[in-house]
Amino acid sequence: MSTKAQIVLGIESSCDETAVALVASDRTILAQQIASQVSEHAPYGGVVPEIAARAHAEKLAPMLDSVMREAGLTLADCDAIAATAGPGLIGGVMVGLVTAKALAMASDTPLIAINHLEGHALSPRLADPELEFPYLLLLVSGGHCQILLVEGVGQYRRLATTIDDALGEAYDKSAKILGLGYPGGPKVEQLARQGDPGAVPLPRPLKGSKEPHFSFAGLKSAVLRAKESQHNSARPEPVEGREKPVHTSTGSARTGFAYSDADIAASFQQAAIDCLIDRLEHALDRIDTPPNLVVAGGVAANQSVRSALEELASRRAMGFTAPPMALCTDNAAMIAWAGCERLPLGQFDPLDVSARPRWPLDPDAEPVRGAGVKA
Ligand code: KG4
Ligand code: ZN
Repeated sequence: MSTKAQIVLGIESSCDETAVALVASDRTILAQQIASQVSEHAPYGGVVPEIAARAHAEKLAPMLDSVMREAGLTLADCDAIAATAGPGLIGGVMVGLVTAKALAMASDTPLIAINHLEGHALSPRLADPELEFPYLLLLVSGGHCQILLVEGVGQYRRLATTIDDALGEAYDKSAKILGLGYPGGPKVEQLARQGDPGAVPLPRPLKGSKEPHFSFAGLKSAVLRAKESQHNSARPEPVEGREKPVHTSTGSARTGFAYSDADIAASFQQAAIDCLIDRLEHALDRIDTPPNLVVAGGVAANQSVRSALEELASRRAMGFTAPPMALCTDNAAMIAWAGCERLPLGQFDPLDVSARPRWPLDPDAEPVRGAGVKA
């Protein structure tokens, strides 16, 4: 006997994307919209919290209206309202959560307060019905870089985190150093395609360390030094045999003993990937190998990262799952889906649930120096 799919309305507003989605428990995305605030924040080179909160407040209600119309549904058709309640920029989180509370109260529908990281962590299961618990998750976004053992809904064991910058943050800062603008991740990836990943010797922080964690601040600083000494005759480290014509970021060919912006981007990306793989190997050496390696979060949209992880998984005889691109960066379908996962477990929240700027997925995890949380 088939049971009727349940429907969850999801709201995401923790950073610079205002997003609304209607998702059914049979994994159908009934309708969704994402309004990026890139143009609002671009002049500042990064997300400005108050601008973000104001933009969410302006965009959310009309988007809710239009998503409901697109799906041909009303609030009465929804079985729960799920909203990101943290972690993130608190002004934006409050806009989304308070809106969800008002809708839940007005329609007498249960409210589910979702941890944004849980949205990312469960997003691969929205795309892949075959993906069962447990799985080893690399969660790589603008605010976080963690290795988690996902054992079930609400059961997350953090095996590693960053002691300073998140990887997405390092991508964004490197993009700024290279004058690529904001948001930087996709731009660095694109430029790296034209560069030589071995051209610029960059550090691999914590590679080979007995500690399980990540560190990317030193890598970002090395990118800055590489950029500063790009056109000097003195190079940061000698690299044999690279006396050849290079193309600058402006595209003009010139000769000299130097490297291009594309070389810096490619070398940065290779160093970051080497760190990811080394830290995952470290984690895998210390646990019973779960059947699947999974990646989620904004940096999971990166093709080179995905390929390196796929190769690691096959070397370790694990399956590999990465959500489709649209589910990697922030979206509301993953928040609605986390609601779909919590709904049958009766995990609802009261109307006075708090918005939380910080909210670890694994409350038992040892704090590390640095903390590694952006907001
Ligand atoms: O998950 P997300 O949308 O927001 C957070 O929860 O932080 O991740 C955004 C981050 C940004 O730092 C962005 O530069 C990075 O993900 N990102 C990428 C790519 N696409 C997005 N980094 C590397 N390569 C990409 N293709
Ligand atoms: Zn995110």
